[in-house]
Parts: sequence; C-alpha cells; structure tokens
Amino acid sequence: MTPQPRKRVGVLISGRGSNMAALIAATMDPAYPAEIVAVVSNVAGAKGLETAERHGIATMVIPHRDYESRAAHDDAVHAALKGVGAEYVALAGYMRLLSPHFVRKWQGRMINIHPALLPSFKGLDTHARALAAGVRIHGCTVHFVTEGMDEGPVIAQGAVRVLPEDTEETLSARVLKVEHRLYPMALRLVCEGQARMSDGRAVIDRKGADDAEYLLSPPEGG
Ligand code: GRF
Repeated sequence: MTPQPRKRVGVLISGRGSNMAALIAATMDPAYPAEIVAVVSNVAGAKGLETAERHGIATMVIPHRDYESRAAHDDAVHAALKGVGAEYVALAGYMRLLSPHFVRKWQGRMINIHPALLPSFKGLDTHARALAAGVRIHGCTVHFVTEGMDEGPVIAQGAVRVLPEDTEETLSARVLKVEHRLYPMALRLVCEGQARMSDGRAVIDRKGADDAEYLLSPPEGG
C-alpha cells in the first residue's frame, strides 16, 4: 500500500504544552500519520513554545490583547494556520473560547483534550470538582470541537480510579499521564480517517478488540 502523506496539524496552546509535547513525540515516528506544522500561542512566553522550538517546529505568538474582538483574533489565528497549510487543528491547553465562525471553519478537523470524562465536569477546575463530587472514576476526553464549550462529540476517553487519599495534585498528575497517551492516539484516529464527525456525532471505525470489557473502581475482589 502506498503510504498516505502525513496530515498537516497546527497546535494551539496557551501554557505548559505537555500535551503538545506528547503529540510532538508521537510525530517523531515516521509512520505516525500527522506532522505538526506550527504551534500557535495566544500568550507570549508560554512554556510550550520553547519545547516546540527545541524540536525545530515553527512557533507563532498571536496575543489576543492585540485584537479588538474575539472574532478578529480568531481570524488572525485562522490565517496563520492556513498560511502554514494546516489541515487539522489540535487544541492543547488553549485557554480561549473560540468564535462560532472559527469553529465552523474547522468543524470535523479540530479536536481538543479536556481533563475530565465529558459530559461530566466541563470547564475549569475539573479535578477539584471531581473530588468534591466523590466520583470513583475520573479521566480525560478528546472530542471534536463544536460551538458549545467542551460539548463536541467524544472521540476517545481514558480513565483512572480516584483513590481515597487523592488530592487535586495527585489526581491531576495521574490523569495527565493518561492524556499524554490518549491525545496522540486520538489524533491518529482522526488523521487516518478512523474517527470522523457525522451528523453531530463522532463515528469511530476502529479495528481490533478491546482487552477489557469494563473498568471498575474500586476494583473487584480483595
Ligand atoms: C490539560 O489538562 C488539558 O487537558 C487541558 O489543559 C491542560 C493543558 O496542559 N485542556 P498542557 O499545557 O498540555 O500541559
């Protein structure tokens, strides 16, 4: 089979960029179906920018404060992504709400990672809220981005048990590890066409069987 050209992905960040780094690491494998063509940040000095630069990836800072409206800022980001020939967008800790116009332009080609099992715990402070709610399973979600915040169709989720001794820090660290495995896997599915948006839902054509039928927390037995 002739190998398909790698899909060109733009990554949007606002901060640390550890999920971006996980995506970069995945793209080091020449068999991975995507390459990162640019990392765009709305925050100058975002830590993730240094990481991207160290890997020789083009970075751009487009501060939202320089624009008179959200839509004008989003237009600048869109132009930057188009300028580098991006075909897909991965949001990785991008702390901006996106205008409907921007979202529509990338519909089905823009994904986000959220640190909770959606539709539970949309928004911020997900780990503290999960602890306060007393859930036994928590995790992360990769979803297609639609107009409603954290509302798009779910592509993939990863879960961890919530332990009795967990604090916000320990729980977020455990979820973050799963994020770093989940996001590259989900981007692969999207770029290979195995995950796509259809009629407002994510359709997954994943070949292969799951090895575990269910996850219980606390675990069985003992
Ligand atoms: C992650 O927890 C991600 O799920 C959320 O924002 C955080 C970004 O962390 N959207 P990083 O910048 O990827 O390290």
